[in-house]
Amino acid sequence: MNAQKLIDTAKMLVADGNGLLAMDESNPTCNKRFAKLGIPQNAEARRAYRELIVTTPGLGECISGAILYDETIRQQKKDGTSFVKALTDAGIIPGIKVDAGAPDMAGHPGEKITEGLDGLRERLAEYFQMGARFAKWRAVIAVDDDIPTCGCIEANAHALARYAALCQEVGLVPIVEPEGLMDGDHTLERCGEVTEEVLRTVFNQLNSQRVMLEGMILKPNMVLPGLACPKQESVDEVADATVKCLLRTVPAAVPGVAFLSGGQPSELASARLNAMNVRFKSRLPWALTFSFSRAIQQPALEIWRGEEANVPAAQQALYHRAKCNRAARRGEYTAAMENISA
Ligand code: 13P
Repeated sequence: MNAQKLIDTAKMLVADGNGLLAMDESNPTCNKRFAKLGIPQNAEARRAYRELIVTTPGLGECISGAILYDETIRQQKKDGTSFVKALTDAGIIPGIKVDAGAPDMAGHPGEKITEGLDGLRERLAEYFQMGARFAKWRAVIAVDDDIPTCGCIEANAHALARYAALCQEVGLVPIVEPEGLMDGDHTLERCGEVTEEVLRTVFNQLNSQRVMLEGMILKPNMVLPGLACPKQESVDEVADATVKCLLRTVPAAVPGVAFLSGGQPSELASARLNAMNVRFKSRLPWALTFSFSRAIQQPALEIWRGEEANVPAAQQALYHRAKCNRAARRGEYTAAMENISA
């Protein structure tokens, strides 16, 4: 392991003004989003969409790293340039999702366990050879009155830590993503309680597995009320609850926290990230940034709809969201930014 290289990459990924773009939807997830918009669900449509993303003018001004999927890291632009090269040329570090999805957990109704450790060492080595410099593994934590259970939290945290250790061994910065889901009617307080317990367990496991905290990035959920909860707290209340939870659980050695968006409306995700940076940035030991998929991509996807003629407008929408999140990451986002077309 070259510790300094890992530290340098992690720092670059969360450098001021930058965030991550998750474009690592598995084929089934990508197809589901395409189907809703009447876009053909095949490899060529997925390739064309990913080409739209990686060739968006100016994307590298706001995005330091892009997370790819196994299919995507092997694909090329129409002119034959690999996506990895296109991203690197744009100043964007290529990353790769390496978990194998989250099926139901045996003996734990309503809970999931992420798979993918078998053969991971070899897969990581191949991705590194292909040009990836960081990786992602997502654990899924459903929230209700009596879940998550200790068994689910511990098994997922253990897998995250073993994945992270393998990543660092081969020279990839691990993005450690324990996602507390927004589905359900749980309160913000319940989400905070669960997120705190999950992060505490994850960092215990990362320590047990000897993961170098300076060479990793945490990708958590924000602390939010469930989508069906009647009480929806203000942007500032969400910012306060989220930062309070992170301060209690995330060691100062971690260089950055890059939130997932989890199905929040795009503008709200930007406003919440912005509020955290406005209220706390100067007092935090780690960078607070974004690693959004839907909250960056969704407006662009809805404009594109699989039509070549819509590519420039879709790219403008993608750039606009990336720019808004760059501002939010600096605490400079305002609702007025949304009125100016990109
Ligand atoms: P969302 O921002 O759409 O939640 O996706 C982030 C991600 O990478 C989920 O694993």
